[in-house]
Amino acid sequence: MALRNALLLAAAALCQRHLLVHAAPSESTVQACHAIADQLPEGRVAYPLQLPYIAETQRYWSLALRELRPACIVSPQDTEQVAAAVRVLANRADVPFTVKSGGHDPNPGHSSIDDGVLIAMHEMVGATYDAETGHAYVKPAGEWNDVLGDLEPSGVTVVGGRLGVVGVGGLLLQGGLSFLSAQYGLAADSIVGWETVMANGSIVNIDAKAQPELAVAMKGSGSQFGIVTQFTIEAHPIGQVWGGARLYDPSKKGALFAALHNFVPANADDPKSAVIFTDLAITLNGTGNIMFYFSEGPDKPTSGPLKEFLDIPPLLDLTKTQSYAQLLKANGDLSSLSVARTSFRTFTIPYIPTNPGLYAEISAKWRDISSARSPSLAGQQSEARGGNAMGLRASDPDRLVLELQCGWLNGRDDATLYALSRDMTDWLQSRMPAWLAQAGLPGDAYMPLFMNDAAGDQNVTGSYRGYARFKELQEGMDPLGLFATRAGGYKY
Ligand SMILES: Cc1cc2nc3c(=O)[nH]c(=O)nc-3n(C[C@H](O)[C@H](O)[C@H](O)COP(=O)(O)OP(=O)(O)OC[C@H]3O[C@@H](n4cnc5c(N)ncnc54)[C@H](O)[C@@H]3O)c2cc1C
Ligand SMILES: *[C@@H]1O[C@H](CO)[C@@H](O)[C@H](O)[C@H]1NC(C)=O
Ligand SMILES: *[C@@H]1O[C@H](CO)[C@@H](O)[C@H](O)[C@H]1NC(C)=O
Ligand SMILES: *[C@@H]1O[C@H](CO)[C@@H](O)[C@H](O)[C@H]1NC(C)=O
Repeated sequence: MALRNALLLAAAALCQRHLLVHAAPSESTVQACHAIADQLPEGRVAYPLQLPYIAETQRYWSLALRELRPACIVSPQDTEQVAAAVRVLANRADVPFTVKSGGHDPNPGHSSIDDGVLIAMHEMVGATYDAETGHAYVKPAGEWNDVLGDLEPSGVTVVGGRLGVVGVGGLLLQGGLSFLSAQYGLAADSIVGWETVMANGSIVNIDAKAQPELAVAMKGSGSQFGIVTQFTIEAHPIGQVWGGARLYDPSKKGALFAALHNFVPANADDPKSAVIFTDLAITLNGTGNIMFYFSEGPDKPTSGPLKEFLDIPPLLDLTKTQSYAQLLKANGDLSSLSVARTSFRTFTIPYIPTNPGLYAEISAKWRDISSARSPSLAGQQSEARGGNAMGLRASDPDRLVLELQCGWLNGRDDATLYALSRDMTDWLQSRMPAWLAQAGLPGDAYMPLFMNDAAGDQNVTGSYRGYARFKELQEGMDPLGLFATRAGGYKY
């Protein structure tokens, strides 16, 4: 009951805030909307107060993004229509725009926009499989549930999200951590082709073999090279899997942190296992843990890297043998219960073998929802598959990607909550040299930020090894700065 009241109050606050901050779109932006409408079939461009416009502005993961008001929403049905819209935008240098696939990126202005043109890909959904090439053709919009459901009858899947509700296009363009990453690398590492509308409005099939340098840049650069309308992805066979969520009471926290510390190196011996470690704060009064487990194959693991976790008695156990699509759907259903304004912020932590107490120290500092992952093996796979923009390599030390996730209800708290996670990454940054020195490790380990979990003000691309080269490449393909200066998302 209390929650219901809070939600209603929050909704009232949102309307009020919106009335206060909303400005009008510029005259040239309105003209651009009309010019795009002229180029496309009837009904592809929606304006404020129209039903399709209202529906699309409400399809965002974070409540906060549902307040943003684009000048118009373009809903292309195919690549040609995307290209037509881009050609109009390319000719009007002062019109801001952005692209949205699933709308799960919580950063305002990334896949959402005030007073600009929103290109919403929601009509371009789903996947097909070509058994002869072993490739899946994946459209950018919808959610991973759509992609997995389409591929499952063929007995294959692609490396993608771990929760079925998550969006597809953004995850694939910004890297993508999967339960299959220890085996196959980031989700982006299995992509072999990108059908892309470039800054000059041409449609280019970027081919990983023919354009290896651009392909590396496409794996983790986000929206900077063009609007991707279809991904060609190397599919992998998948059968029954074991996994799901387990919930733990606070007394198990120490044992879970110990199991996490031992899991990271042990994962190398069994890359078919994976775990999302979630340390809850607010939800369970600052205490409990939810773990998401995964093991490829039908059997519940009785040995190997997950054993230590599985020996810890949970409060609630949702793990079972099921199809991969069922597992992801169940994981997503669990988290779709959270309806809030959300923020992400990330930090990459080196695995420090001699410091098993690190997680408890970080957890004590951070009293909010966080999850740690292990993309170390992913680095080996990334390199084997040609490399990605994040620059992960087999020779790098193990790392943990820390995701700081906040959820709150009232728009008046936005600044406080953003500051909270910024303070946390500042603290981690300041503590890191001492942790490394204590462990006798070099202070300059390569720790790139993971774009999919980052906050908009974090310099993600600047943390990449290949930053300077990718920036040059981006400028070469987008000389007028269409994507670099006028579209939402991370920049070079
Ligand atoms: C509940 C939840 C669970 C998550 N789990 C995972 C996980 O397991 N692994 C993981 O890696 N990440 C995870 N994430 C993070 C997720 O990958 C990002 O939020 C990602 O951006 C979602 O993709 P999307 O299609 O919804 O992106 P959007 O919000 O639509 O877009 C993100 C960015 O990409 C750009 N973009 C989108 N589509 C295109 C396109 N077709 N062409 C060019 N640019 C485009 C947008 O302009 C924007 O800048 C999770 C997020 C949530 C909310
Ligand atoms: C939450 O923690 C506070 C302070 O420790 C305590 O007073 C309260 O009873 C707890 N609430 C629940 C639901 O456990
Ligand atoms: C991001 O980092 C790069 C590389 O260090 C730097 O050149 C660039 O100026 C930074 N960008 C911003 C916006 O701080
Ligand atoms: C448009 O840009 C693409 C990619 O940079 C390039 O291959 C193509 O030749 C350009 N087309 C025109 C007409 O300039």
